[in-house]
Amino acid sequence: MITGDHAIKKLKEEAVSRLDSAQNAQDLEAFRVAYLGRKGKVPQFLRTVAGLPSAERRVAGSEGNALRKFLEERVCEVLKKIGRNFRAPHSFGETIDVSRPGKRASRGHIHVLSRVFSDIRSIFLRMGFSVVDGPEVESEWYNFDALNISKDHPARDMQDTFWLKALAARRAQVGQNTNVQKRQTSKDRLLLRTHISGIQARYMEAHEPPFRIYYEGRAFRRDATDATHNTQFHQMEILYVDKTLSVANFKFIIEKFLREFFNKDVRIRLRPAYFPFVEPGFEIDMTCVRCGGKKCTLCATGWVEICGAGMVHQNVFRAAGHIPGEWKGIAFAFGVERLAMLKYRIPDIRLFTDGDMRFIEQF
Ligand code: DAH
Repeated sequence: MITGDHAIKKLKEEAVSRLDSAQNAQDLEAFRVAYLGRKGKVPQFLRTVAGLPSAERRVAGSEGNALRKFLEERVCEVLKKIGRNFRAPHSFGETIDVSRPGKRASRGHIHVLSRVFSDIRSIFLRMGFSVVDGPEVESEWYNFDALNISKDHPARDMQDTFWLKALAARRAQVGQNTNVQKRQTSKDRLLLRTHISGIQARYMEAHEPPFRIYYEGRAFRRDATDATHNTQFHQMEILYVDKTLSVANFKFIIEKFLREFFNKDVRIRLRPAYFPFVEPGFEIDMTCVRCGGKKCTLCATGWVEICGAGMVHQNVFRAAGHIPGEWKGIAFAFGVERLAMLKYRIPDIRLFTDGDMRFIEQF
């Protein structure tokens, strides 16, 4: 029977030598199970103590408990020591200092442009617009003809439009699941849409007014790039068709939208401008978000150009199969990068496509 001074000394010596030879966490755990676990040697010793006469029991019991405490503390010390020099089994000599501070894992976040899009969308959804969509690979018909853009319009030039070669175009169309491809004939050339306005033509052709729609997406132009031009960029557009609508309606909607988006009391002004799909057509300026109209280096004049707008041309209704004169429509479009640049003071449109993390992480 392992009782008395001798037995406990022996147990202690044996435990300490085994503990001190522990090389790693597995050794230590094996030790803990063998000596301190429920069926380990120390608890076993303490159980045999219970059967001793009371005087011996008191002595042996307190020595046994002291040993357990001693070993538990020693386990902690050894754990600290081998923790610092812990050698992972497959690390070929590399040591890991587990006491060094960790690296924060990057969680990723929503891109500034996506955030701007969701802000814009939610404003127009609150105004009763529904979100619709259309393809990036568009036909000449929807991108130009249906929008009253004549055959000789400069926008159709090789300079501005990315035309798709027949094979590439057919491949791009496979998997393009748009319902309104009726007008698509073999003669109809395909292109990367130069604006998203083709969606008006598609939607009007398939739906009976009245309606209020919002759409957004990428557009492409064969332009030279600079701080405010890129070969791809994003637009959002509104089309509102009803029996009685006027310039006053879009003035109101645009101003309300801008005030909510910039969270500022901006004002707008209308300048007559030519867009083939609207009559009358306007370019709209907004009071500069930086100086509020007092003139600064951003705006020079106190105003910044912000969107194109107008009353839908009756030829557009006609092309979509509606009787000219029966409906009125208002349409306007914003460059989304431009909105983001003004809101967040971003100096160069190319930053959105460069993929530079130093830019992306700022938002
Ligand atoms: N689609 C035109 C462009 O990309 C912008 C535009 C102008 C859209 C006037 C409109 C509008 O709806 O009314 O240049």
